Amino acid sequence: MEHLKKLIKEAELDFSKCKSLSDLDHTKAKYLGKTGPLTEAMRGLSGLSKEEKPKIGAFINEIKKSIEVALLERKKLIQDEELNFQLKSETIDVTLPGRKQAQGSLHPITISMNHIQNLFHSIGFDIATGPEIEDDYHNFTALNIPKEHPARAMHDTFYIDKNHVLRTHTSPVQVRYLKDNTPPLRVISPGRVYRVDSDATHSPMFHQVEGLWVDERVSFANLKGVIQDFLQKFFEDESIAVRFRPSFFPFTEPSAEIDMSWNDGWLEIGGCGMIHPSVLTQVNIDTEKFQGFAFGLGVERLTMIKYGVSDLRPFFTNDIRFLKQFEI
Ligand code: FA5
Repeated sequence: MEHLKKLIKEAELDFSKCKSLSDLDHTKAKYLGKTGPLTEAMRGLSGLSKEEKPKIGAFINEIKKSIEVALLERKKLIQDEELNFQLKSETIDVTLPGRKQAQGSLHPITISMNHIQNLFHSIGFDIATGPEIEDDYHNFTALNIPKEHPARAMHDTFYIDKNHVLRTHTSPVQVRYLKDNTPPLRVISPGRVYRVDSDATHSPMFHQVEGLWVDERVSFANLKGVIQDFLQKFFEDESIAVRFRPSFFPFTEPSAEIDMSWNDGWLEIGGCGMIHPSVLTQVNIDTEKFQGFAFGLGVERLTMIKYGVSDLRPFFTNDIRFLKQFEI
């Protein structure tokens, strides 16, 4: 019994030397395990008399309980120490600056579109839109380009079916708008258009802004003035070089192409002209009373010149390093 009593002190000393829970587990086996002195002593009970058995049995249990209490106390101490260490080593410095969320920027074509719309809106133009999937009639026939007309070859068209195309220009909105509104009217129509085209200055999907002014006395001089004035404001430069080059569109007469000085040469930025009487007649406008001009500007081309970009394809390849340069 004396020998067993000493075990309590011994265990307390051994437990106090344990620095971790696994150490403690190991040491626990030495005292309370299957081959430990207490289990051994329990086994020895069988050799004792009936009177001694319960007394010694109870004594061994007392010793076992005391060792278990010492074990639990040490375990709690080690757990507290480990928790404190963890709290100290894993502290967060709440004064450190946070990680900022990257801010997006407007696409250069969107910046140009907004700018163009604001400038025309400021001189009294309304804004109208039309469908990107257009029928043959609005994209071609109503614009004086009947089936088999050679002018259809000017547009490399994406056909949806025999009767529908991805619109090749914004001019079909002219027809839709003139049908639903009566002159005098001034309107622009910005939007996406599509052609089977791809090189440094041609993209299969690009943007145009159509313009239309119909009134009793509208002349080619007015058309030139509006375009010239718009370009000076868009480029914030009064001295820009603009050239009106005689050209042909079936839906305008006379017609011109608008060029701007670019890379030691000229870049075509749009087409324009006086609305052909047969387009006005299609939509029941009295050509004896009204006349008008129309233009269609290429937004990618304007943006290229504005920002000094020599190839329009990067506008659509989604390289964020390129696009980020155009923040306003
Ligand atoms: C037309 O599309 C006519 N509808 C413009 C017009 C409207 C004339 C009203 C008269 C009256 P054109 O095919 O030239 O015209 O195209 C107009 C402009 O779109 C071009 O000057 C050019 O700036 C731009 N453009 C044409 N094709 C592409 C392309 N594949 N990629 C980028 N821009 C293009």
